[in-house]
Amino acid sequence: MVFKKFPVGNGDIIQGDCLDVLETLPENEVVLAFTSPPYLNAINYDEHVEKLHGKRNRWERKEVSYKEYGEFLKERFKALLRVVRPGGHNVVNISPVSWNGERTALPFHFVNWMEEIGWKFREDIVWEKPIARDRRSGVLLQHPYPGYYYPSLVAEYVFVFQKPALKEDKENIYWFRTPEEKQNNLIDLSDYQGEKSKNVWKIRPVAPQENIHPCPFPIELADRIIQLYSYKDDLVLDIFTGSGQTNIAAERAGRKHIGIETQTEYIKYIIKRINAEINQQTFSFEKAR
Ligand SMILES: C[S@@+](CC[C@H](N)C(=O)[O-])C[C@H]1O[C@@H](n2cnc3c(N)ncnc32)[C@H](O)[C@@H]1O
Repeated sequence: MVFKKFPVGNGDIIQGDCLDVLETLPENEVVLAFTSPPYLNAINYDEHVEKLHGKRNRWERKEVSYKEYGEFLKERFKALLRVVRPGGHNVVNISPVSWNGERTALPFHFVNWMEEIGWKFREDIVWEKPIARDRRSGVLLQHPYPGYYYPSLVAEYVFVFQKPALKEDKENIYWFRTPEEKQNNLIDLSDYQGEKSKNVWKIRPVAPQENIHPCPFPIELADRIIQLYSYKDDLVLDIFTGSGQTNIAAERAGRKHIGIETQTEYIKYIIKRINAEINQQTFSFEKAR
């Protein structure tokens, strides 16, 4: 299969289903993969894009069973395992979504699925958002009795997995870099002893008026992961890149990058934003709509 590839800055945005696109990428080249997967039952991206164009006012949810969704994710993260270098990392931002009105333990099932397909679990980071967008906790205010506790949801998970590797591969990917490479990739530890040294990170979520995508993660989240798990010139990949927050952070950090995305509209948006970065122009969100 041939896919449309859009070179931009240090990277390429490739249009297609990541399952098929991953098959065309070479084995063992990606040092870091970072993504947040689509919640197939919650957001219908085809219809969201039509809404952006004013062709509809709202989108309808898609009928996808939780089992089908699990298979969708397993197939794609298995294909990802092939292209990541032994010892390289796969970092995934995920949260417990609702399915048929029930809150699911998706992140915890997800860890199981990743282990089944061959990823090694390494870290669980909690991304804490200082603002709650839902009013769940209000139920207890109305009914101050046991059994009415529904905390407002302000956290998502960021799980770190690693591709199993021989000792030698592990050493080569991070530890046996040249002194010059290490010097050029020194991590700024000035504010490390605050929250960054712990596994709860407080980062402001993206406001709806800041990005055309319905659920982007903050560039700062991608930025931290990229600094912590890759060196300059390493290849960073996002298999569900959406508005390209990973690509933008990778571009700024001097990494090579690939983003895979199905929707033309989001791809155009990524390209405009990265070109604006390169030309040091202020990016106008309104112009991009
Ligand atoms: C949760 S969003 C990612 C948002 C992204 N992290 C950002 O910050 O903008 C998931 C994205 O995956 C895309 N997508 C859905 N199915 C896909 C597939 N099979 N292959 C590649 N991309 C897909 C959707 O269009 C959507 O933009």
